[in-house]
Amino acid sequence: MTGIKLIGTGMYIPETVATNEDFTKIVDTSDEWITKRTGIKERHPSNGEPTWYMGVQAAKQAMEDAGVTPDEIDMVISTSVTGDYYTPSTANIMQGKLGIHKAFSIDINCACAGFVYGFDMAQRYIAMDDDVKTVLIISSENITKLVDYEDRSTCVLFGDGAGAAVVTAGPNRCYTYLECEAQDANKIYAQNARPGNAFTTQEGREKYLDLFPQGREHYMHMDGRDVYKFATRAMPEGLHKACEKAGIKVEDLALIIPHQANYRIIETAAKNLGLSMDHFYLNIDRYGNISSACIPVCLNELKRAGRLKEGDKIALVGFGAGLVYGATVFTI
Ligand code: ACO
Repeated sequence: MTGIKLIGTGMYIPETVATNEDFTKIVDTSDEWITKRTGIKERHPSNGEPTWYMGVQAAKQAMEDAGVTPDEIDMVISTSVTGDYYTPSTANIMQGKLGIHKAFSIDINCACAGFVYGFDMAQRYIAMDDDVKTVLIISSENITKLVDYEDRSTCVLFGDGAGAAVVTAGPNRCYTYLECEAQDANKIYAQNARPGNAFTTQEGREKYLDLFPQGREHYMHMDGRDVYKFATRAMPEGLHKACEKAGIKVEDLALIIPHQANYRIIETAAKNLGLSMDHFYLNIDRYGNISSACIPVCLNELKRAGRLKEGDKIALVGFGAGLVYGATVFTI
C-alpha cells in the first residue's frame, strides 16, 4: 500500500486573548481552579472571523510550507464541526477561496478527533485513487459559538483557530485505529435547529420533542466527568491499538500529539501508558481546546520548531463527541 508523507503545515489563531482572569468577570470561577483542573491559562476566541476564513489562512501557510500550488492539490478534507453554512460544505467553500480548481472536497464530522480521521482518509485516497496524489486537510473551528457562557464547567475550556496540513504519497503508510462508542453520544452534543416547516402541526412538534435531548438552545452540553473517564481510557487504548498495527511499542514513539482537552487527561493517559510527559506535546495553556484544530496546530508548531525529525515515528491521538476516538502512527 502506498504510504503518506507530511510535507507542509500551517495555522491561524485569532488575535483576541481571553485569560482565566477574564472569565472571573463572566462566571463564578478563578485562575487557580481553571489552571489546576485543566492546565489552561489563555484561549483565543474568534472576533467574528468565519470558520472558512481561519481555515483558508492556515491552508495558505501549509501550501506555502509544502511548496505546492493550488493546481497541485487533488483533494480537500475539512474536519470542522462549526462550519458557517449547512450547505455548501466548509471544504467546498475553502477550496473556492483557495483557488483550487482541479480537485474535489469533502467535509467530515468526527468531532475533536477529526484530524486523525482526515489523515487516515487522506492515506486511503492516495493509496486507492490514481487521481489523488496530494491532499490538503484543514481543521478550522469556531467552537466558541457553541459555548454557553453561563455554564462555568464548559465555557472556560474552549478557544478558536485553525490548523492545516498538506500530505502526499510517501514510502511509509500510517497505521490507524478508529472507534466510536455511540451508545454515549448524549455525553457531548450541540443541537441544530429542530425540524419544522409550514406543514408541521403542534401535535407533530410535541410527538417528536422527546427524540431530542433537552439541552439549552444550540449550546454545547457536556457531561464532563463521564467524558473525562472515557478520555483517560480511550487515549491509551487507541495508542496501543495503532502501535500494535504498526508493529511497534508505544515507547518507540518519538512524540505523541494528543487532542488538547485537559492537561490532567493527558497526564493520566501518560501514566496509564507508562510514559513520561516528555513524550507528549502540549500547548493547551495557550489555546485551550480548539476541537479538531488542536492536533494540526500542534503539528505546525513542532514543524516550525524543527522537532519533526526525518524517520521519527509520531502518533496523533484524539477523542470527542460521538463518543469517538482514534490514533494514527506515521513516519516523518
Ligand atoms: N470554576 C470553578 N468551579 C467549577 C468550574 C469552574 N470553571 N467548573 C466546574 N466547577 C465546580 C463544579 O461545579 C463542581 O462543584 P461542586 O463540587 O460544588 O458540585 C466542582 O467544580 C467539581 O466539578 P467536576 O465536574 O467534578 O470537576 P472536574 O475536576 O471533573 O473538572 C472538567 C471539570 C474540566 C470539565 C473535566 O471534567 C473535564 O475536563 N472533562 C473532560 C472534558 C473534555 O475532555 N472535553 C472535550 C471533549 S469534546 C471536545 O473536545 C469538543
